Order: sequence, then C-alpha cells, then structure tokens
Amino acid sequence: MIGKCLFPVAGSGTRFLPATKSMPKEMLPIVNKPLVQYGVEEAIEAGMTNCALVTGRGKRAIADHFDISYELEHQIAGSSKEDYLSGIRDVIDRGVFTMVRQRAMLGLGHAILTGEPLIGDQPFGVVLSDDLCLNPDGPSVLAQMAALYEEYQCSIVAVQEVSKEEVDQYGVVAGTTERDGLTRVSEMVEKPSPEAAPSNLAVIGRYILTPDIFDIIRNTPPGKNGEVQLTDALQTQAQEGRVLAYQFKGLRFDCGSVPGFVDATQYVFDHYYGQPE
Ligand code: G1P
Repeated sequence: MIGKCLFPVAGSGTRFLPATKSMPKEMLPIVNKPLVQYGVEEAIEAGMTNCALVTGRGKRAIADHFDISYELEHQIAGSSKEDYLSGIRDVIDRGVFTMVRQRAMLGLGHAILTGEPLIGDQPFGVVLSDDLCLNPDGPSVLAQMAALYEEYQCSIVAVQEVSKEEVDQYGVVAGTTERDGLTRVSEMVEKPSPEAAPSNLAVIGRYILTPDIFDIIRNTPPGKNGEVQLTDALQTQAQEGRVLAYQFKGLRFDCGSVPGFVDATQYVFDHYYGQPE
C-alpha cells in the first residue's frame, strides 16, 4: 500500500493575479472548497493519508486549513453552521500533514526533491492541485493509479490526449502499448513544440513515483526553462522501462487556467453542490 502523497504547493499563481497576490493559488475555491482540499481528499481516498506539503513563503493559509480553527469552532459550536465544517474536519481527522519549505522555485523536480525528508524510502503519490480530477462514477484517479502500482511496482504518470497545439504546455510521453489505456513509456519530453512532440499524450498532475527518483533528480541537470524537471528524471526511469503512462477514467480540469477554473466551478456546482459528502 502507498501511504504517502506529496503536494508541491510552493509555486506562485501569476495567472490568477490579483486574486493570488496575498493568497495561495491552492486556496482558490471551486465553489466552496479550496483546490488543495480536493487533491488531499483524492489522496486520502486512495489510502495516502500521510500528506506531505512542499510549501513556501506566503503559503501559511494552506497549513492553517489543515488544522483546527479554535476560534471558528467556538463561534459556531451548536449551530447549524457546524455542518459546513464537517467535510474539512473529516479530512483533518483522517490525514496526517507534514510540511517542508521550498526556499527557491527551481522547478517541479526540485520541489519533489525538497519533499524527500517527508517521504523517505518508499513509493509515493504526487498531486498537482492545479489539476482537478473527478471521477463521479468510480474510484478517484489516484486510487486507480495506486491499484495499478500494486500490479506493476513502477512509476506511473497519468496522461490524457490533448490537441497538437497544446502539447507545449505539458510533459509528453511515447512508448509501446502494454494494454488498453496503458503505455510502457520509452520517451518523455517536457513541453515540446508541436513539431518535436513524440505524441499527443500529455502528463497531467498525478504521479506515483518510486523512491529512486530522488537520487535521479539529484543527478538531473536543469532542463526546460532552466528548471529541474521531473519529466527529465522520469525519462531516466523510462529508458529502463520503469514508467507507465495511464489514461485514467474520469474528468480533469486545468484549474491553473481561467477557462479550466470556470469549467470546474460550473461542473462542481451542477454535480456536487448541496449533495451530502
Ligand atoms: C507540470 C509538469 C508537466 C505536466 C504538468 C501537468 O508543468 O512539468 O510535465 O504535464 O505539470 O499539469 P506545469 O503545469 O507546472 O508548468
């Protein structure tokens, strides 16, 4: 069983300025719940109750969100408003939250490596909370990937097909078909141009990583945009046939972009708001 999940939450949300000027982008709500809580709930549902937050300056609100607010609890004790808190109380009760600060923004690979002391020598999940994944009819995307890990015991990336014009926003994979919806990856490229892309299978923000990734990242030079890229480190594992790309069941909203955020808000309002948790 994979028990830990890493959340890189140090990055700034420039695309959402001015909303993110003094508030972490991960705290932007989709209807009435912050993005990062959706990700944490997904991890907990997948059995990853130990949530390792790689946080940074200006991100204290995230740590506070996963803790009791005594003042608020006291204020609304005994009133009907307590119901509003039951979801997050449940998350806090079921999860364990650990934190480390990333001092400099040197890329996703660097963020993952910063989380090593919280993870140790065991396989772990990674959730990029900008990508909101929902699967109303079955297990969450991370739970689907955890089940696959039990079978294959190697790193797994979630992928979906995107249009040729969009490949330069993603890590892109290519390889051989292992079975329907599952590719044994031989090549991974971070944000290639449409001409250079090996396919249109784009990595979205859900990963299962084996712990040797930490040593590999340590030996991975900065890549695209001068940042240490997780994609480049995964390419080292992929060359040894140790990465699978999984076309998950469910929906994914790119909440790092305004249109994706609006779509997610509409979807959650239509399908979840007012429903019992
Ligand atoms: C990161 C990864 C990229 C991946 C994407 C998924 O990029 O570097 O490989 O496809 O997340 O959302 P970012 O969106 O942080 O630039």
